[in-house]
Amino acid sequence: MTLKKINPTKTKSWSKLTAHFKEIENKEIKNLLSSRPNPSDFNLSWNDFNIDISKNRIDNETLNLLIDLSKECDLEDAISKQFSGDVINETEKRAVLHTAIRTDGNKKINVNGLDVVPSILETRNQIKKFTNDVISGNLKGHTGKLFTDVVNIGIGGSDLGPVMVVEALKHYSSRLKPHFVSNVDGDHVLEIIKDLNPETTLFVIVSKTFTTQETISNANTIKNWLISKLDKNAISKHFAAVSTNLIEIENFGINSKMVFSMNDWVGGRFSLWSSVGLSISLAVGYENFNKLLSGANKMDNHFQNTKLENNIPVVLALLSIWYNNFFECETEAVIPYTQYLSRLPAYLQQAIMESNGKSVDRGGNPVKYQTGNIIWGDTGTNSQHAFFQLIHQGTKLIPCDFIGFKKPLFKENTQHDKLMSNFFAQTEALMMGKSEKTVVNELKNAGLSEHEINSLKTFKIFEGNRPTNTFVIDQLTPESLGSLIAMYEHKIFVQGIIWNIYSYDQWGVELGKQLASKVLKEIENKKISNHDSSTNSLLKSYLSN
Ligand code: F6P
Repeated sequence: MTLKKINPTKTKSWSKLTAHFKEIENKEIKNLLSSRPNPSDFNLSWNDFNIDISKNRIDNETLNLLIDLSKECDLEDAISKQFSGDVINETEKRAVLHTAIRTDGNKKINVNGLDVVPSILETRNQIKKFTNDVISGNLKGHTGKLFTDVVNIGIGGSDLGPVMVVEALKHYSSRLKPHFVSNVDGDHVLEIIKDLNPETTLFVIVSKTFTTQETISNANTIKNWLISKLDKNAISKHFAAVSTNLIEIENFGINSKMVFSMNDWVGGRFSLWSSVGLSISLAVGYENFNKLLSGANKMDNHFQNTKLENNIPVVLALLSIWYNNFFECETEAVIPYTQYLSRLPAYLQQAIMESNGKSVDRGGNPVKYQTGNIIWGDTGTNSQHAFFQLIHQGTKLIPCDFIGFKKPLFKENTQHDKLMSNFFAQTEALMMGKSEKTVVNELKNAGLSEHEINSLKTFKIFEGNRPTNTFVIDQLTPESLGSLIAMYEHKIFVQGIIWNIYSYDQWGVELGKQLASKVLKEIENKKISNHDSSTNSLLKSYLSN
């Protein structure tokens, strides 16, 4: 069954939201907050997640209307279709079942009438065995030495998920040292392999298609390097591969025991839970990888079974739509208050922008409203000293997600309290701002003259009324990380359903790829064919070196 095609702007709730927006747009969060009859309506506690959404430009009516919108767009029907393995990625004719690969194995999941759970569990066992064999030393390199380093060769979803999780779970590391090669930039790959010992390094090529230029180029560079350092027979011991393209894997020369399959019903940017996560498993051990899956599975159950009003991904998605389509906010920032999550914004950029950066609706018509948000961010407190000026006093309204943890991993509470005091202070400051009266008083107390105060005060006023969501999670564990990532995945899906777009294809990345291969041929043949005048002259100047 396919997804319904409902234009959100033609629903009754959209019209009501448009009228309601006029009532809310000039209201201040701090006043909305103090007048709320039931503050717990603005809290989405679940397991060890405490999510405070009360610092938003909303009231009960806003939430009710947004929920009505999701009902009119028949979100519940879409959720059930996704989890049932319906072909909801229609332009690629595929089911979307990244949720299946983190199943607890207790129920059947059918794709084209076939239960896929046994093969999912089999692949999981293969990952487990391989991970344990490499870490224990059961599996050794060509010259009989233990593996010490693992290099993930992949790009996009075959890189960003693993790299983000491996960084996030560094505290849980196994004895293997992880590395990631992604860019087709030869300097990237050569910089990484220059200090590696070929005898003790395992390479994992991750490519759903096994045709991606970047990944195959890097894999070939490394293959040649390995042959030059050891010999040709080393390939079968030092390369593992993850792909749906088993023929190309074989052509590359990979030992069939080191091949991990994946399914076309798992999109690249949602694939870290599959064998694409092999490098994660190697880097943190299979037990931790499994806990990551289990955390995601718990969020899947919450998403699938919780009524819309209390459903975390649903409410977060609706808030995002509220800002995107009514306040006309173009961007959202994600600010994790832990250095371990430094790669989360980059990971979310692909997940969110590749999924919802669409301007054609599910009926094939151009959309006449805004879709995918621009996502950016960095860790707090670093970002406070970088771009927070603009969030506090700039002309743009930027809703932010603040993600913090109650307990640090190193039980070092003094600094953790400092970190978290910044975390709480920032959301309060963004909401409360600083009034002219407070600024003037402060300047008076600092001994400034009236003239000095008058010339300085406007620069020191903070309007406030900047919306934030605050996530306080008990601790950064493989489980809580799994839940957090799955929460964002489902938020993406909900937004795509309401915007009436297809979130699971990515045709927009094709054009640049096609042109690049044409340009490469021209560069190799030193013969520039007809481009526009700008590109022609840039290419000529490149070739003149
Ligand atoms: O360029 C976009 C993309 O297709 C992503 O969706 C995907 O994650 C990435 O390329 C890598 O693709 P593959 O895993 O097939 O090498």
